[in-house]
Amino acid sequence: MIEINNLGKVYSGGRSYTRALGGVDLSIPKGSVYGIIGLSGAGKSTLVRCLNLLERPSEGQILINGQDLTVLSGEELRKARRRIGMIFQHFNLLSSRTVAENIAFPLEIDGMKKAEINKIVDELLPLVGLSDKKDSYPSELSGGQKQRVGIARALALKPDVLLCDEATSALDPQTTLSILNLLKDINRELGLTIVIITHEMKVIKEICTHVAVLHDAKCVENATVEEVFTSPKSDIAREFVSSVFPAELPEDLLRELSSHKDSELVRINFLGDTASKPIINGLITECGVQINILYGSVEHLRSSLFGNLILEIRGTDEQRGLAHEYLKSNSLVFSYLNRGGADA
Ligand SMILES: Nc1ncnc2c1ncn2[C@@H]1O[C@H](COP(=O)(O)OP(=O)(O)OP(=O)(O)O)[C@@H](O)[C@H]1O
Ligand SMILES: [Mg+2]
Repeated sequence: MIEINNLGKVYSGGRSYTRALGGVDLSIPKGSVYGIIGLSGAGKSTLVRCLNLLERPSEGQILINGQDLTVLSGEELRKARRRIGMIFQHFNLLSSRTVAENIAFPLEIDGMKKAEINKIVDELLPLVGLSDKKDSYPSELSGGQKQRVGIARALALKPDVLLCDEATSALDPQTTLSILNLLKDINRELGLTIVIITHEMKVIKEICTHVAVLHDAKCVENATVEEVFTSPKSDIAREFVSSVFPAELPEDLLRELSSHKDSELVRINFLGDTASKPIINGLITECGVQINILYGSVEHLRSSLFGNLILEIRGTDEQRGLAHEYLKSNSLVFSYLNRGGADA
């Protein structure tokens, strides 16, 4: 439902010139929780600001439900923007207004009648868990509570899309989790499409269905979260994945193990159903190899299981060949660590 075509943004002023985005194409499905990850300066905030035209793209198109925002102006653009809510890292609340008045703010700007505004605010407060804070001021709230106000305010005009720019970066890990869970509930209950900008892979792991990796102003990879976690294509995506699932063996150990005769080191990633299959048992009984487990972890990826194993497989050439076929026929994503890391 959001199509980004050949998006480019150049900042120029005086003698400075920065290409913050170039040739970015993305397709964000309706109802998805779409993560955009990248290092500092990659162009993430620029991208998210271009999505609602807070920043005007230098080139390309932003299509939301088929409507190109880049050609709209005035009243048409204002209407289209109503469909897009946004939350920020530092919450951007009005300090002189209470929680209820902050949530009401976009509705007042929109010219809505007082009674209708009150009704909407009263519906939103319990949704974000702030019924008892209605008349508090932002200075009386914790960071997590402030972000809940930000979320309620962003939802006030009933948008189709919620943009989140580093919405949890100023929060501690536990509060981060509660905000991510709230976003997950909102996505499920309201069917809202959520775009999340972050530099933390654990945010992606927790709630996203899809992820795009931005690097040096370009989108270097985009796919479902499962695909990127099990088989990242770019170096930068691999780095992000290993930041949450560190599965590297120490160099010395790797060298020593690699010198063993008749043995291979294999990294296996498994997801969902395959996580519950007795792979090791199968390798031993069906292929006749011996297995040495060097590393293992099973994590939750949203609501599915994601496993990471490093095995030493010992046996004759024939037995190891059978093991290779066994892994393949079980649709496992695997790669050899001592065959120059070549993919199977
Ligand atoms: N208003 C601006 N004027 C000039 N250059 C800018 C402006 N905003 C961003 N840039 C430049 O564009 C590039 C991308 O910036 P952007 O803020 O989009 O990165 P980011 O990925 O959000 O980084 P961070 O993780 O640090 O927030 C950077 O080189 C930045 O210096
Ligand atoms: Mg940013």
